Amino acid sequence: PPSFSHMEGSSGLGRADCRAEGGSTGFKVAILGAAGGIGQPLSLLMKMNPLVSVLHLYDVVNTPGVTADISHMDTGAVVRGFLGQQQLEEALTGMDLVIIPAGVPRKPGMTRDDLFNINAGIVKTLCEGIAKCCPNAIVNLISNPVNSTVPIAAEVFKKAGTFDPNRLLGVTMLDVVRANTFVAEVMGLDPREVDVPVIGGHAGITILPLLSQVKPPCSFTQKEIDYLTNRIQNGGTEVVEAKAGAGSATLSMAYAAVQFADACLRGLRGDADIVRCAFVASHVTELPFFASKVRLGRCGVEEIYPLGPLNEYERVGLEKAKKELETSIEKGVAFVKK
Ligand code: NAD
Ligand code: LMR
Repeated sequence: PPSFSHMEGSSGLGRADCRAEGGSTGFKVAILGAAGGIGQPLSLLMKMNPLVSVLHLYDVVNTPGVTADISHMDTGAVVRGFLGQQQLEEALTGMDLVIIPAGVPRKPGMTRDDLFNINAGIVKTLCEGIAKCCPNAIVNLISNPVNSTVPIAAEVFKKAGTFDPNRLLGVTMLDVVRANTFVAEVMGLDPREVDVPVIGGHAGITILPLLSQVKPPCSFTQKEIDYLTNRIQNGGTEVVEAKAGAGSATLSMAYAAVQFADACLRGLRGDADIVRCAFVASHVTELPFFASKVRLGRCGVEEIYPLGPLNEYERVGLEKAKKELETSIEKGVAFVKK
């Protein structure tokens, strides 16, 4: 297919571009899976982010339409579209941040692990491209099952000799966004003022909200703790069932992904005290990957915080989460090593 990168100058009449790319004037961001349910609103929101100077939209279908549409928004970022595997390298070259929502979503009755067979291969191919074309980019991995796709990405990067554990982040921000919303609802608070750490991973019982560490400090009844933990762990399934076969969370996910990407970009810019939860290579437990609070900076993850004091309920939850996480991590590693 004909290349349609450089769609920003479709008339060919544009004068010299006064927006220097990258550096002090903004960052170059690629979205892989940009034409999908998450990809489209995510592309829209990233086009509105003043920290972005160049936005590359890559997918295996429909990127010309999405790119033409988004490129008409009168915000600063220059938008370019890339279609199909033969344009992957061009899409990735020079990127500072790569966000990956490519892959199939769940239907009712499926677990996230049921997506492994299709999404593992997709993530592997995309990460091989990243290793080749932008090995220093920060990677935000959204494709499920995150508990396995992040280890897959790490193995691909290790094989290529480019693995930097600080630059690979599994996106668990939606769990935090949901936890903030549900806690605010129960406690009658403004969700914008609530901050719930969510640790572990991104599937069922591996999603572990630390309700004992909520800010502002909240005191919950056991009934509230059971309700909130269960609702946060099954938030994804709640949306999958409500969509009844039409996919999983896309709009709240795009919102969460943009919050997270923006935090990564502000870290890259050198802003202080940018702390978010993410699923990363970690030593806070005996597992090689774990989601917890991390501080983001110029090199990606600059510090991983300890879990802090857990109550008995959370300690029991953590042990259960670790068992399932271990299996999911090993499955991802084995997929690349086989
Ligand atoms: P979707 O099917 O609507 O969109 C996926 C897009 O990926 C499609 O446009 C498709 O063409 C594209 N794609 C497929 N193969 C590709 C490849 N090889 N290269 C590039 N693009 C490719 O699905 P969606 O609702 O956007 O969900 C995408 C993924 O995100 C799913 O795996 C879903 O489970 C996951 N997800 C994760 C979270 C999270 O919190 N981490 C939340 C919601 C969804
Ligand atoms: C979510 O949490 O919404 C996503 O992981 C999608 C899903 O399959 O639940």
